[in-house]
Amino acid sequence: MTAEFEKQFGKTPQFWSRAPGRVDLMGSHTDYNMGFVMTMTIDRDTWIAARPRPDKKVRIRSLNIAGESQFSLDNIKHDQRAPWSNYVRGMAVVMQQAGYALTGFDGLIHSTVPFGSGLSSSAAIEMATAVTYQQLGGFALDPVEMATLGQQAENEFVGVSTGILDQYSSALGQAGSAIQLDCRHLTHEIAPIADGLQVVICDTRAERNLIGSEYDDRRAQCEAGARFLQRHYPEVEALRDATLAQFAVHEAEMPAVVAKRCRFIIEENQRVLDLAAALTQGNAETLRQLFADSYIGARDLFEIGAPAMAAMMQAMQSAPGVVAARQAGAGFGGCMVALVQDDCVAEFSEHVQQTYTSDTGIEPRIFVVSAAAGAGALEE
Ligand code: GLA
Repeated sequence: MTAEFEKQFGKTPQFWSRAPGRVDLMGSHTDYNMGFVMTMTIDRDTWIAARPRPDKKVRIRSLNIAGESQFSLDNIKHDQRAPWSNYVRGMAVVMQQAGYALTGFDGLIHSTVPFGSGLSSSAAIEMATAVTYQQLGGFALDPVEMATLGQQAENEFVGVSTGILDQYSSALGQAGSAIQLDCRHLTHEIAPIADGLQVVICDTRAERNLIGSEYDDRRAQCEAGARFLQRHYPEVEALRDATLAQFAVHEAEMPAVVAKRCRFIIEENQRVLDLAAALTQGNAETLRQLFADSYIGARDLFEIGAPAMAAMMQAMQSAPGVVAARQAGAGFGGCMVALVQDDCVAEFSEHVQQTYTSDTGIEPRIFVVSAAAGAGALEE
């Protein structure tokens, strides 16, 4: 990147930053319900090489996508032609609103996080950008604040109403371990993964077109469910606060769709808590059951499945060495995730590759990931 930066900008970069993507091991759509998520960083990340400029301009290029995007920190608009630059723009907007003085820069971005497949390529660029602005400005943000500013950029500038999961994972994820994130208190606990288990991403590579509106619908349905339950149980501010027993008393009075969404979230939230011990102990039967229940609930109750996901689930569950398999990210296609015995990863991958391709005609992407450190500066 240094060499490429010199070639493209005619100078050497002064700062390097990186931020990883993430995969969730349990807790689909629990984040905006103020619940728990078992999440981990992946060793796929976004890098930025940067050099300060004397004016208030930001000029950025990417090694992944051709073209350049430029803006002034004093007047930040969207760039429809280079939508990837909107993450860099959005971070600048929210950081300046929060009172941080930003410095203009020339920057080169490179990412190994697959785009648009549910591994948080957006959060990775947001968090890497936030690190770059800190390096250039000579100040340091608390990582939780960095994550919430990233979520704000995503919600308000990019215009996607996501929860805190992606940015928190990228900013605060831990090398070598999953974390159990508490989305209300913005804290986490380390959740080590038992020796002998590998996390394998199985990307369906299926189109995820409806994702924006479907995501917003799910969110609205969950919020409607929480409001409904709050009439009976004032302490229920979000679905995280409701027990299954409380919900069951009123399930039949709720609109059927809202009831399905609520049941999934309340059960899924409990599965996150149940997963921690099983993950650390490597309890195969519990892992298999929790992952399978999560997938079935996501498909039948939360309805974020897709034909490609069903085909992938079938391929993963029938593969040698599989311990557990489920969806990941928002659903509607994209990546899925399996826990696989580490001496069987090659056979697992080959089986999934062949089975899924012959069922769908789509060539999947299968790769082992391990948890990398959260976002930060890179020293020369
Ligand atoms: C997307 C969103 C997250 C979270 C997941 C589903 O990744 O960005 O905030 O809601 O979907 O768990």
